[in-house]
Amino acid sequence: MNNFNYRNGELLIESINVSDIAKKIKTPFYCYSLNHLKEQYTKLDKSIELEDYEICFSIKSNSNQSIIKTFSKLGSGADVVSIGELKRALKAGIPSKKIVFSGVGKTSEEIEYAIKNDILMFNVESISELKKISQISKDLNIKSNISLRINPDISAGGNEKISTGKAQDKFGIDWKSTIESYDFAASLPGIKIIGIDFHIGSQINEIKPFEESLDLLVGIISELRKKGHDIKVFDIGGGLGVQYHQKEKPLDIKKYGKLLSEKLGEIECKIIIEPGRFLTANSAILVTKIIYIKNTETNNFLIVDAAMNDFIRPTLYGSYHEIITINEDKKGNLSNYDIVGPVCETGDYFGKKIPIGKVDEEDLLAIKSVGAYGSVLSSNYNTRASINEILVNNDEFEIIRDRIEDEELINRDKIPDWI
Ligand code: LLP
Repeated sequence: MNNFNYRNGELLIESINVSDIAKKIKTPFYCYSLNHLKEQYTKLDKSIELEDYEICFSIKSNSNQSIIKTFSKLGSGADVVSIGELKRALKAGIPSKKIVFSGVGKTSEEIEYAIKNDILMFNVESISELKKISQISKDLNIKSNISLRINPDISAGGNEKISTGKAQDKFGIDWKSTIESYDFAASLPGIKIIGIDFHIGSQINEIKPFEESLDLLVGIISELRKKGHDIKVFDIGGGLGVQYHQKEKPLDIKKYGKLLSEKLGEIECKIIIEPGRFLTANSAILVTKIIYIKNTETNNFLIVDAAMNDFIRPTLYGSYHEIITINEDKKGNLSNYDIVGPVCETGDYFGKKIPIGKVDEEDLLAIKSVGAYGSVLSSNYNTRASINEILVNNDEFEIIRDRIEDEELINRDKIPDWI
């Protein structure tokens, strides 16, 4: 996380002291570095040497419009999975012809909205979905561009909850039925086949699963073309892994770029890549304040003001996130703490046995690498407010998401007068 460094004992984001932001913004809050977002996009863009490709930011990883707009200004398209994400992408300036719509459960309303907004293509995940898209398109007197998402039966990803490319997973069409599925798609009146797609999982740090999937799909494309199917777009999904732990070896992005040149250089397709985490994960920290220090016979706890509702990855996936003090002096004389939130569940933790220096109540901590699947997975469990998101640009910062206060949440409940 290059844009997050200590200077004179204080943690900075770009050129701003985190503690100065915390004087103005109520903790906990997410804090992003604009520079990091731009650097990651550029790094990926530069590593790809194909003639015709599009980076379609997977906005499920972070759907704040400022983040989407940052990538849109760098030329990005979007991978969306709901009408809400589609609306956000359009509102943040992504051209509709750079939007792909994935997901196993697209509703009629979503399909119609996407058709009317003229997106690039639907990544279709089942025969039933194909029929539905065809019917809706026919009623609207058009043909919709589709690709079929192929399930290559290849295991990949950080853990089983985020591995999506195995035969038993709910995603895509069994690779063995590809040809018959395309033949069927071609017979439908509202369908125009333009592409093919796969996505095997998330937080993939090895090249091998990408390589195996590309080999399989390149072979399938050649078969499909022999049968007369016009495959012009090849969407190779996202899943590019990043470094969370200092000991973790992240995906080598140059090797990834080389693999694409080697496997796809001659394929004569527009290549679409759908990275989410790679672009956003290390762009943000979650700033939280220690409310109480509680030492028991077995554990030392730091009870902080952020909780699992604000950031659920540690307890949901057992994910490691580095946790550091905002004040560097407190790095000395380390003790091991369990860092926990105020929510009434034992699973409400951010880290266990984390070495932290001499800290006091009211001190600030930063939970690192929370830019992907952080705020998007937050909830209001325990009637806790939705927290601010802040974007830093060199020596200035802005709020990019307002808090939703508890009062507002409470006022959304309705009590019928017959209770
Ligand atoms: N394309 C499709 C079709 C996807 O389902 C996903 C992620 C992506 C692209 C982007 O994958 P990425 O490049 O971010 O790895 N909440 C989990 C991750 C869920 C990933 C879901 N799909 C986590 O926090 O680890």
